[in-house]
Amino acid sequence: MSSNDRYPTIPLGQYREYPVAEMRERLQAFYTDVARRRTVREFSSRPVPRDIIETALAAAGTAPSGANLQPWHFVVVSGPETKKRIREAAEAEEREFYSHRASAEWLAALEPLGTDDQKPFLESAPYLVAVFMQKYGELPDGRRMKHYYPAESTGLATGILITALHHAGLATLTHTPSPMKFLNEILARPKSERPFLLLVVGYPAAGATVPDISRKALEDFVSFVDP
Ligand SMILES: Cc1cc2nc3c(=O)[nH]c(=O)nc-3n(C[C@H](O)[C@H](O)[C@H](O)COP(=O)(O)O)c2cc1C
Repeated sequence: MSSNDRYPTIPLGQYREYPVAEMRERLQAFYTDVARRRTVREFSSRPVPRDIIETALAAAGTAPSGANLQPWHFVVVSGPETKKRIREAAEAEEREFYSHRASAEWLAALEPLGTDDQKPFLESAPYLVAVFMQKYGELPDGRRMKHYYPAESTGLATGILITALHHAGLATLTHTPSPMKFLNEILARPKSERPFLLLVVGYPAAGATVPDISRKALEDFVSFVDP
């Protein structure tokens, strides 16, 4: 019986508990798999069935969100004309970024990644998924509905999306041309939505390489408080 009888509850039917040994095995397998994920910047144009993208997005839609308001919207772009428009707009912003807007410090941090203002993958990859964060909701009568923690919630949904696509054997690039307002215009999204990031999705190009960078060791980013 719920402590709040005004709202219905249902049994936690889908929860699964595993014996600890199985827990370890499952987690080790999961960790080994996600540790292989890399951001790819060279994509093949090989097609990916649309239902694969849909299921990964359905997984993203299971993310927890502030007050369950699910403050996200995903636009899946596969058409060459729209991809071309996005590439042109993104490259214009990136030219500004690399030549004027970025601080010397930011450019130095990007240097090991070898990124520049050329974004051919925005046309070659089979899918671009534009992720929008809904700053507020819009009720049918035009009133605004406050959203709680929209950035945290959209970030969590996007993390699940990236993980799901990796799990399916696809590569992604988390791309953030800055500013990204052009995405609202090209994709006809309302002012209530802020472009969050642009996820490039597909198979890596044959012979694709990635920067030789490392990840922090667990003890460098985790602390335990036992007492
Ligand atoms: C919020 C965010 C924005 C990013 N923006 C870009 C980007 O605009 N261009 C790019 O090439 N990579 C971008 N990346 C990818 C990072 O450079 C990459 O995740 C990082 O170098 C670690 O490499 P890995 O993903 O292969 O582990 C972004 C990643 C995140 C999380």
